[in-house]
Amino acid sequence: MPTYEGLVVVLGANGGTGREVVARLAHHGVATRAVARSERKLADIVKPGTETAVADVRDVESLENALRGARAVINCIGTRVGFANTGKGVADFFGFGEDGADAVDNRGTVNVLNAMKRVGAEHLVIVTSMLINQPLNPFSLMMKPFGDILTMKDKAEKAVRASGLRYTIVRPGGLTNQPPFQKGIKVAPADALSSGSISRADVAEVCAQALWTPAAYGKTLEIVADDTAPVSDWGAFFASVPPDAIPAQATAAGV
Ligand SMILES: NC(=O)c1ccc[n+]([C@@H]2O[C@H](COP(=O)([O-])OP(=O)(O)OC[C@H]3O[C@@H](n4cnc5c(N)ncnc54)[C@H](OP(=O)(O)O)[C@@H]3O)[C@@H](O)[C@H]2O)c1
Repeated sequence: MPTYEGLVVVLGANGGTGREVVARLAHHGVATRAVARSERKLADIVKPGTETAVADVRDVESLENALRGARAVINCIGTRVGFANTGKGVADFFGFGEDGADAVDNRGTVNVLNAMKRVGAEHLVIVTSMLINQPLNPFSLMMKPFGDILTMKDKAEKAVRASGLRYTIVRPGGLTNQPPFQKGIKVAPADALSSGSISRADVAEVCAQALWTPAAYGKTLEIVADDTAPVSDWGAFFASVPPDAIPAQATAAGV
C-alpha cells in the first residue's frame, strides 16, 4: 500500500529541489504528476509511470489543468535571478520583470492556492526560504535588489496561511546538491535560524513526509543540516515545532 493515498502534483519538477521531490515520492510509492513549463524539461527526470503536465504558475488556466485530480501539491517553484536569468532582459535579470519574484513567487503562489481550491486539492507543501522576516541579515540585504525576493516569499506565505487549506511551509537554508541522509536536520520555527545549508534531497524528503505526518500540518519550519544522525522519527521531528498562529484578520488580499 502506498504511504499516501491520492495524487500529488509537484510544481517546478524540473528544478533542483523539484526533481528530488519527484524521486522521493517515487521511492515512497506515491502517485505523482510532475509539472514543468515544458514536457522537454521533464524528459530526463520522470520514470515511466509518472504522470506529467505543463503549466506556468502565472497562467491560471494551465495551473488548473495541471492540478486536476490532485489531493496535494508540493510547490518547489522559485524565480531565478541574476546570472541564472541572463538573456531575459534587465528587469528579469534583477527579478523585477514578468518572470520575476512578484510574478512567480508571490502572485504565482496565489494562483496555485486559487487553482487548488477550484480543483478540490486539500494540502499544499511549499518551499520558501530561511531569512524571510530578517531584512537586516547581510544575505537578505544582498538579495533585496533581486526582485525583493524574500519579501515576495513572505507575501506568498501569508496567503498560504490565510488560505484555509491544509499547508506546510518549508523554509530551507542555502541549498546544496549533496546526497540525502548524510546528516541530521535541525528544525526550528519561523524566523529562528539565520545560517546554514541543507541538501535539496533532504528538503525533498521533508516535503514528502509532511504530506502524511499530521504533526507537519499548519506549520512553518526552518531547516538546515546539522551533525546529528539522520532523522528517523518524522512525527517527533515535526512535533518539535509549534503550529502557526493564524492572524484573525488574515486575508489573501495583500498578495
Ligand atoms: N538556492 C538556494 O540556496 C535557496 C535557498 C533557500 C530557498 N530557496 C528556494 O527553494 C526553492 C527551490 O530552489 P531550487 O534552487 O531547487 O530551484 P531551481 O532549481 O531554481 O528551480 C526553480 C523551478 O521553478 C520553476 N519556475 C520558475 N518560474 C516559473 C513559472 N513562472 N512557472 C512555473 N515554474 C516556474 C523553474 O522552471 P524553469 O526551469 O522553467 O525556469 C524550476 O523548475 C525555490 O523557491 C527557491 O527560491 C533556494
